[in-house]
Amino acid sequence: MVVVTYDKLPPLTIGPHERVFVLTGAGISAESGIHTFRDQNGLWQRYRIEDVASPAGWHNDASMVWNFYSQRRAQAEEVAPNPAHYALAELEAKLENRLFLCTQNVDPLHERAGSRRVCHMHGELFKSRCENAKCHTPPHEDHGVYLTHETIPNCVMCGQRLRPHICWFGEMPFELDRITRELARCDWFITIGSSGAVYPAAGFVQEVRSHGRARTIYVGPERPDNAGHFDECRLGKAGEVVPVLFA
Ligand code: APR
Repeated sequence: MVVVTYDKLPPLTIGPHERVFVLTGAGISAESGIHTFRDQNGLWQRYRIEDVASPAGWHNDASMVWNFYSQRRAQAEEVAPNPAHYALAELEAKLENRLFLCTQNVDPLHERAGSRRVCHMHGELFKSRCENAKCHTPPHEDHGVYLTHETIPNCVMCGQRLRPHICWFGEMPFELDRITRELARCDWFITIGSSGAVYPAAGFVQEVRSHGRARTIYVGPERPDNAGHFDECRLGKAGEVVPVLFA
């Protein structure tokens, strides 16, 4: 593994038929003003995961959960994409479906920057769905803010409560089949701004390496927990490194 500051290495040279898998984490949105989870001042310093991001927390106190995600919604309404989001949107315009952009983030900043095909493996902040797993009403767009038990809306089909369309701890991330297929056929695997602490996403780099073909690169200000599995760690902020990486 090579660990260098980002300005010491040239941009990537992506061949005309090569496929690129980009995995983004909370770090890519940090420069836009959205808190990460595990840094100093990160969200998990101030909230307990089990209270606001687990099925048990939801059953225990749904209004506390909605308070948490309502605050996240209010904050996300106010922020704008940064140069890293825009660079990935430009990359999609060039590579089209040879880019697979998978994010652990629930914010809409990739879409606001112009990315059109984003795989949100941990769900989307501005969507809600029925809490009843047997109710097949699809998740729908929702910018609502629900601060008390009385204001939590009910499903129009079955009458149970609406919950945030977020993958909580203990739940299965979305679109894992598609992700697995893309990991197997990529030529470049690039993770941007993720601590490498949460699986399955933290294990994608090993999965890619098991296929033995892709070059693996990490971008962020510090080495992630899974740094040892990357060919290169380019140290720097996403907003500075990513535009250079794909220049
Ligand atoms: N540019 C790039 N990376 C940054 C920046 C920046 N400007 N600032 C911070 N980072 C990096 C940190 O060094 C850290 O490694 O972003 C990473 C953020 O890590 P986490 O807070 O753990 O976020 P993430 O890895 O996305 O978390 C994964 O955990 O709590 C769950 O579901 C939640 O999707 C989330 C998952």
